Amino acid sequence: MFERLEMAPPDPILGLEEAFGRDPNPAKINLSVGVYKDGDGFTPIFNSVKRAEEQILRDETSKSYLAIDGAPEYAVVVQALIFGEAHPVSADGLAVTAHTPGGTGGLRIAADFLKRANPEATVWVSQPTWPNHPNVFRSAGLRVETYPYFNAPANDLAFEEMRATLGRLPAGDVVVFHGSCHNPTGIDPTPEQWASIADIVEERQLLPLVDFAYQGLAEGVREDAGGIRALHRPGREMLIASSFSKNFGLYNERTGALTLVARTPAAAQASLSHIKQCIRANYSNPPAHGAKIVAAILQSAALSAEWEAEVAAMRGRIRDMRRRFVSGLAAAGVTRDFSFIERQHGMFSFTGLTREQVRRLREDHGIYIVESGRVNVAGITEANLPTLCGAIATVLQG
Ligand SMILES: Cc1ncc(COP(=O)(O)O)c(C=O)c1O
Repeated sequence: MFERLEMAPPDPILGLEEAFGRDPNPAKINLSVGVYKDGDGFTPIFNSVKRAEEQILRDETSKSYLAIDGAPEYAVVVQALIFGEAHPVSADGLAVTAHTPGGTGGLRIAADFLKRANPEATVWVSQPTWPNHPNVFRSAGLRVETYPYFNAPANDLAFEEMRATLGRLPAGDVVVFHGSCHNPTGIDPTPEQWASIADIVEERQLLPLVDFAYQGLAEGVREDAGGIRALHRPGREMLIASSFSKNFGLYNERTGALTLVARTPAAAQASLSHIKQCIRANYSNPPAHGAKIVAAILQSAALSAEWEAEVAAMRGRIRDMRRRFVSGLAAAGVTRDFSFIERQHGMFSFTGLTREQVRRLREDHGIYIVESGRVNVAGITEANLPTLCGAIATVLQG
C-alpha cells in the first residue's frame, strides 16, 4: 500500500526550515518561519513565562486529564484578553471558549464545527493569506475561495475590491479575517475600514472567523483587539481562533483557543457541545502546560504587567528592525522605494521580491524567505542586516 505513494510536496514554510537546517553555508540567514528572534538571533523564553512556570512547578499536584474544552479559568482569561474585562458577551453567557493546541488547533476545530453547523458554507480567505488556511479548511471538507486583500502596486489594502467581493457573498458564508498583523502582508485595516467591513458583514449576514495569532505585536494588546471588537455587533455570531505561540513565546507548548460568540446562552452551550465532540474526535483533550502558563500570567497583575512590557519590547525591536531594514537597503544602493516596510505591522514584510529573486537569495546567498516574498522581519539582527541588504541589492540588479 505505502509503496504506491509519491512524495507529498514540502510545506511551503516549514519545508524551508528543513532546507535551511541542511544548508552548510555558515553565513545562512533564516527569515522564513514566523518565529521571533531577539537582537542576538535567539528565540527567548519570556521572564513572565519562566516565573509562571516556577509557580506551576511548585503548586501542581496532578497531571490528570483536562476537560475536553480545557480549564474554565483559561476560558475566562482568553475572553478577557479578546473582549476586555466584563464584556457583555462574557457577562451574558454568549461566549464559550475551548482550549486548543495552538491557533492551528483552534482553526481546525472551527473548521470541523462549521462542517457540522453549515456544511454548505464557503470559507473566504484573503488573497494572499497564511498558506495553512486553505489547507486546514479543505482538510475539514469545506469549500475555500478568496477575497481581494492586497493592492500590490500601492503596497496597501485593496479595500474597495475587498468590500465589493464581501458585498456579494451569500448569507451564512464564512469570512476569515486576520485580527492584527495580517500574514503575509503586514497590512491591517484602519479602524474606519474595520467599521465599514463590519457593516458589510452585518448587512450580508456573514460569519466572521477571526484568526488572532499576533495580539499585541501591531500596536498593543488592547489596541490589536480593535478589529474584533468592531466586527462584533450585538446579536451577531462570530468565531475567534487565538494563538499564544508568538505573543507569549509558547510556540512548542501548542497553546491556543477557539472562542464562539452566539446570539443566546442556549445557542452558545449547544455550539460548545458540538465543539467538544469535534475535539474528542481529533485529540480528545488539550495539553495543559502552556494554558496554565497563560492563565497564571493573566490572573496575576504583576505577571501581566511584566508580560505586557515584554510584548512591548518585542514590538519595539520589530519596529526598529523595520526602520533599519529600509535604511540598510538604501545604504546598499537599492533605489526602489521600500518605505512601505515601515508602515506594515507585525513580524512579516511582504517585500514584492519575485519568486526568481527569492530563489537566488536562497541558492546564491543562503538567505531563506518564503516564496511569496514574505520576510520575517523579527529574524533580522544588526549582525545579519548588512548581508541581507547586500544580497537583496544584488538580486534586484538582475
Ligand atoms: C496567521 C496565522 N494563523 C495561525 C498561526 C498558527 O499558530 P500556532 O503556532 O499557534 O498554531 C500562525 C502561525 O504562524 C499564523 O501566522
